[in-house]
Amino acid sequence: MFSYLKKYWLFIILTPLFMLGEVVMDLWQPRLMSVIVDDGVLGLNNGGVGNLDLVINTGLQMIGLVAVGGICGVVSGVFANLCSQNFGNDLRKDTFEKVMSFSFAQTDRFSTGSLVTRVTNDITQVQNLVSMSIRGFVRTFLLFAGGIVCMLSLNMQFGTVVFCAFIPILFCVVFFMKKADPMFGLLQTRLDKVNHVMQENVSGARVVKAYVREEYETERFREANQGLVGTQLRVLELFSYMTPIMNVILNISVVAVIKVGGILVEGGEATPGNVMAAITYISQILNAVMRTVMIFQSVSRGSASAKRIREVLECPEDLKDGSVEDGNTSGECRGEIRFEQVSFVYPEGSREPVLRDIDLTIHPGETFGIIGATGCGKSTLVNLIPRFFDATKGNVFVDGKNVRDYKKQELRNKVAIALQKSEIYSTTVRENILWGNPQAGPKELEKAAKTAQAWDFIQKLPEGLDTVIAQQGMSLSGGQKQRIAISRGIIRDGEILILDDATSALDLKTEADLYQMLSENYGNMTKVIIAQRIASIRNADRIAVMENGRIAACDSHERLLETCGIYREIYQSQLKDGGECIG
Ligand SMILES: Nc1ncnc2c1ncn2[C@@H]1O[C@H](COP(=O)(O)OP(=O)(O)OP(=O)(O)O)[C@@H](O)[C@H]1O
Ligand SMILES: [Mg+2]
Repeated sequence: MFSYLKKYWLFIILTPLFMLGEVVMDLWQPRLMSVIVDDGVLGLNNGGVGNLDLVINTGLQMIGLVAVGGICGVVSGVFANLCSQNFGNDLRKDTFEKVMSFSFAQTDRFSTGSLVTRVTNDITQVQNLVSMSIRGFVRTFLLFAGGIVCMLSLNMQFGTVVFCAFIPILFCVVFFMKKADPMFGLLQTRLDKVNHVMQENVSGARVVKAYVREEYETERFREANQGLVGTQLRVLELFSYMTPIMNVILNISVVAVIKVGGILVEGGEATPGNVMAAITYISQILNAVMRTVMIFQSVSRGSASAKRIREVLECPEDLKDGSVEDGNTSGECRGEIRFEQVSFVYPEGSREPVLRDIDLTIHPGETFGIIGATGCGKSTLVNLIPRFFDATKGNVFVDGKNVRDYKKQELRNKVAIALQKSEIYSTTVRENILWGNPQAGPKELEKAAKTAQAWDFIQKLPEGLDTVIAQQGMSLSGGQKQRIAISRGIIRDGEILILDDATSALDLKTEADLYQMLSENYGNMTKVIIAQRIASIRNADRIAVMENGRIAACDSHERLLETCGIYREIYQSQLKDGGECIG
């Protein structure tokens, strides 16, 4: 993570330099105070006669010092912020990019809530740590070391007081930090949980209301929040003991300085002004030690967060890129998909294979249907084509090349997919469709939208293609969302188009028109269509019937009706439900 700071080396040098200026001014003040007391007021070097001019002049010097110190402090603060904010910005950008590059399995493993916390709160904690290190830490160290030097230069005897006070304070700091350290990691995990529940409920707010589960979900949130508050309170409670203990030690030290100072003044070894200066120095020294608590707190919290960010940044690439860069395959196998002895087990799921020994070839330009009971592995099978996951056993080939050998981007340029749940972004309809292929012109956009049966309803929207869609497509119906998602897939103009139950919300007439136009306008594309209804895929060249992760049969609709019992069963059950639609 230090590499992110290299760019800001100038700020890292200038911040402590200006901070040094501020501290020097702070340490200079007690000296001048001592002059005012000894020479200006008591007139120790002038037979007991004070000097008002000296008081005024030294007073003015003190004001000057405060001003210079203040300016140094402001400049150092500005540089520290410039450094930490820019550092945080770079880190956030890269962490986000890394999250974007995650495979589905990695995103599931971290959980969305935790990734949100890491990209937001954790980076803020590390940002604070950077700012604290180049400013707070430097200030504390300089005040501490400078204070001791200045105090000892007044009189070495004061050193005994510093030493005696330093030991218990150091003991306190170490004790409290040891206790608090493990709590900071826990604090971030609790925050993950709160974000996780929050995110699930905000995005699923409609379902929560529909099922009147507000109370249940509020309780779930309360529990998560309680966990966070509880840990926070434990940290705060710990530190609340610390401040009074430190204050007691500080006050005892001040009394000790006065006592030692009194003896020294009596013995003629020090002046009252020296004692006053020593009181200020001891306060500065011990305050500096106390501030190390805040610094350690920020270091502990920051390093717990840094560890969590490193876990993301250093997460090894799950699906390594291959070397095939040339996506422009021509020839016979353009658009061909082949599964060879493919089995698949979800890394985070039960150890049961979801796909078992699949052997299947989908030919270029073919319209290929997949049907089967819910949960039988249809989505999993097609997710292996653009390599959202790697087959646990066996291989998947696209255009005759193993998907593992492609650069992922090249492979995904060939394969357009409309997922089971349509993802719609809160921007215009046009941008949502062009998202699939930003280079596409207006004609291609119209062709894609017309093919997806989306053009007519888009024209009826208040501002047509420029209508802004509400968050998560809330302002559209389920079927409208699906048609926009399909337009996006079509406009990508890849060799392969996968529709994973992407027309489930369309009425049969619209769906039939869509498939009809798809084969007329994009005949060369290989189309893989997953559907729950036989009516959706009956015109496909071939249909695979899946059962429990295996392909039970694969043939045309008519042949399957003759040869495949499961297919006939599905057909008959759907015939009962709405026979006229199928026939
Ligand atoms: N990310 C995941 N982690 C673990 N298990 C998963 C994951 N996704 C799916 N599964 C499991 O894999 C099996 C197959 O899921 P898949 O989504 O492929 O089914 P499907 O045939 O597409 O079902 P549907 O028709 O309901 O969409 C299911 O038992 C499911 O529980
Ligand atoms: Mg599915």
